[in-house]
Amino acid sequence: MMRLSASTLAVATGLLVTALAFTSGTTSAQSLGDTAGTGSETAMSATGEQTYREICQACHLENAQGGTGAGVIPALASNAKLSDADFTLKRIMQGYGGMPAFADMLTPEQIAGVTVYIRTHFGNDYHEAINVDEVKKRMPEPE
Ligand code: HEC
Repeated sequence: MMRLSASTLAVATGLLVTALAFTSGTTSAQSLGDTAGTGSETAMSATGEQTYREICQACHLENAQGGTGAGVIPALASNAKLSDADFTLKRIMQGYGGMPAFADMLTPEQIAGVTVYIRTHFGNDYHEAINVDEVKKRMPEPE
């Protein structure tokens, strides 16, 4: 049976940390402690941008242009449906079709942050704040 030595694990963890630091790139200097609704707008979008880059971009692509391939991924760029904050939060938290539900996978702060981020970038100009408490209220009850 194959066993992972502690040093192999340490190397793997080191690589992962390096990869994450690389992904964070220009935003790594921003404070991750700032949360949407309480932090400055810059901090909000920095956190939201990270969440977008690390998770959403895999499907919606770098410029949120969406695409077709194994199914249709809608563009988030210049998407008038995002003017509806309620709709946007619902899709992100509950999922729909090929869109995974993120309520259990992201913190309320990350959900608020990425919602603000996609609604204020990629040609979208919907600047209302998303309150973290509003996100928390929508979280499914623990079973
Ligand atoms: C596994 C691929 C995948 C990932 C990861 C993903 N999405 Fe989606 N998303 C989809 C698909 C597919 C749809 C279309 C669902 C439908 O209407 O059938 C969608 C729809 C949406 C919509 C609704 C758009 C519209 O016009 O109906 C929003 C908003 C959205 N995604 C935001 C996000 C955000 C924010 C993230 C990251 C937290 C994310 N998505 C991650 C696949 C994904």
